[in-house]
Amino acid sequence: MSVRLDKLLSNLGYCSRKEAGRLVKSGAVTDLQGRPFKKASEKARPENVLFQGEPLDPSELILIMNKPAGYTCSHRDHPPLIYQLLPPRYQVREPQISCVGRLDKDTTGIILLTDNGQLLHRLISPSWKVEKFYQVSASGPVTEAQVARLAEGGWCLPDDDKPLAPARCRKTGECTLELVLIEGRYHQVKRMMEAVGNPLLHLHRSQFDTFRLEGLEPGEWRALTAEEETELKVSCGLQQSQNLGP
Ligand code: URA
Repeated sequence: MSVRLDKLLSNLGYCSRKEAGRLVKSGAVTDLQGRPFKKASEKARPENVLFQGEPLDPSELILIMNKPAGYTCSHRDHPPLIYQLLPPRYQVREPQISCVGRLDKDTTGIILLTDNGQLLHRLISPSWKVEKFYQVSASGPVTEAQVARLAEGGWCLPDDDKPLAPARCRKTGECTLELVLIEGRYHQVKRMMEAVGNPLLHLHRSQFDTFRLEGLEPGEWRALTAEEETELKVSCGLQQSQNLGP
């Protein structure tokens, strides 16, 4: 679809709508053959526009980040905020990039970010059963009774009247366990651990759906590949599987 250049550039965070006029006049915005556009009010398809000789950022972003401890998942809070780990241009895009469910300030690990609102809602909705894997360090030894209780579902957290969905849980060490949830309630793991009498000391999310952090150090992020985007969308019914092979 063709879009006005000033709208296109400002939505992607390159400049304000006002600044677009000056940038276009300076010759920084060209077609694929390097011919400068003349006016910011001209319309073009995003894939046919270069900014300073480079293709524009994708119109939809799906990012995977290794959230470091100490960063907050919010647009408006005391810094540091996880959005500050992204390029400044990404921080002013319209629609805004948001995290797919929040991790607490001290929680580390995998977090997805996107500007696709429908995708975001599906990934956090329990209806689509997208699994999130948490590695929990507890304050005391993990008992079989705690593991069974964490997994069984059907009971309510304090101040919550909706029963928990069943989860998967396994002991991974004397004081550690893995909890796999399809829900994302406020402080859910922390509250579940408190409810079974073994408060958590540290929480790390190691996997989201089939995605892991492989190769991403704390604070690093990358865009999903086209294949990964498809896989994620298939997992929550937004796209049909393209695997038509035998
Ligand atoms: N549950 C929590 O308690 N904290 C998180 O950061 C994520 C899930």
